Amino acid sequence: MKTLTDEKLTIVGAAGMIGSNMAQTAIMMGLTSNICLYDPYAPGLEGVAEELFHCGFEGVNITFTSDIKEALTGAKYIVNSGGAARKAGMTREDLLKGNAAIAEEFGKNVKAYCPDVKHIVVIFNPADITGLITLLYSGLKPSQVTTLAALDSTRLRSELAKHFGVSMDVVENCRTYGGHGEQMAVYASTAKVEGKPLADMIGTDALTKDQWAEIQTKVTKGGANIIALRGRSSFQSPSYVSIEMIAAAMGGKPFRWPAGAYVSNGKFDHIMMAWETSITKDGVALKEVKGTPEEEAALEKSYEHLCALRDEVIAMGVLPPISEWHALNPNIK
Ligand SMILES: NC(=O)c1ccc[n+]([C@@H]2O[C@H](COP(=O)([O-])OP(=O)(O)OC[C@H]3O[C@@H](n4cnc5c(N)ncnc54)[C@H](O)[C@@H]3O)[C@@H](O)[C@H]2O)c1
Repeated sequence: MKTLTDEKLTIVGAAGMIGSNMAQTAIMMGLTSNICLYDPYAPGLEGVAEELFHCGFEGVNITFTSDIKEALTGAKYIVNSGGAARKAGMTREDLLKGNAAIAEEFGKNVKAYCPDVKHIVVIFNPADITGLITLLYSGLKPSQVTTLAALDSTRLRSELAKHFGVSMDVVENCRTYGGHGEQMAVYASTAKVEGKPLADMIGTDALTKDQWAEIQTKVTKGGANIIALRGRSSFQSPSYVSIEMIAAAMGGKPFRWPAGAYVSNGKFDHIMMAWETSITKDGVALKEVKGTPEEEAALEKSYEHLCALRDEVIAMGVLPPISEWHALNPNIK
């Protein structure tokens, strides 16, 4: 099979649910002939590799290792879901602390072992923050690091299709921007249903204001709903969509959803958040985000929430103060 590239793709967190599904998806989508799986949990990792061997794929060299140096050396693309998911009894701060420290170490390892990596997609939560930490410690350019923030937009599409009883194919251009937590900005003004602007339907019998508010809540709590239904956090959709992101960075099909990217434009500064972007072989480029005054206010609120999270990580000592970021990574202005 002709793959998009023969360069090395490393999947970090490959023994986990998202990582193992990403490996299988990447092979099935023909991304590369060279996949390396990494996870500190060696038995689980070997199990994943064995399963992939047993699929009988052709034209792909699958390697696995619990040695991070070996995993990252020569890697040109990385997708990283290697971190804890929130469990019962764990506070958000616990998760933030643990995963922030993992992101710091990962960023430093990238700098040490694969400074020539072309693109990294960060998935582990809180992805807006772990992505930002990775960017700062890796020394990469902002165009080289993205985070998975698209599921909120795909969930909006699904909720609207369910509400109107139509195929998801006729629900177009669903967008959420800002944080990937529950404080995100769910836009109406970009979307169309069967060719009709969604915004024109809100407040009519077709979609009352209350129903729209309910849909927005379902979108922001979409991840929690999967946990309630399945007893564990989502893994099929994050795996698939992240692999679509790295495929776009390899020169594959354009990525169709917002991506988490580094934004510093005078209005929103020193932050990683869901934005309108394009991902190509040259990395991620920011586009314009336009909304109604109400939507823009929601985006500002989401941004403020992200700033508070970022400042918490600065207070923990994982990130230095913003004034020192340029010294840590000269690509950050
Ligand atoms: N961004 C999103 O939209 C999104 C969606 C769903 C889940 N997530 C997040 O993705 C992460 C992974 O989820 P999962 O369901 O695959 O969890 P999982 O527990 O099944 O797998 C996580 C894997 O990470 C490994 N790991 C632990 N420490 C590591 C380290 N220091 N370096 C590398 N790997 C390490 C573990 O051994 C495990 O195999 C979680 O943080 C979850 O919250 C993000």
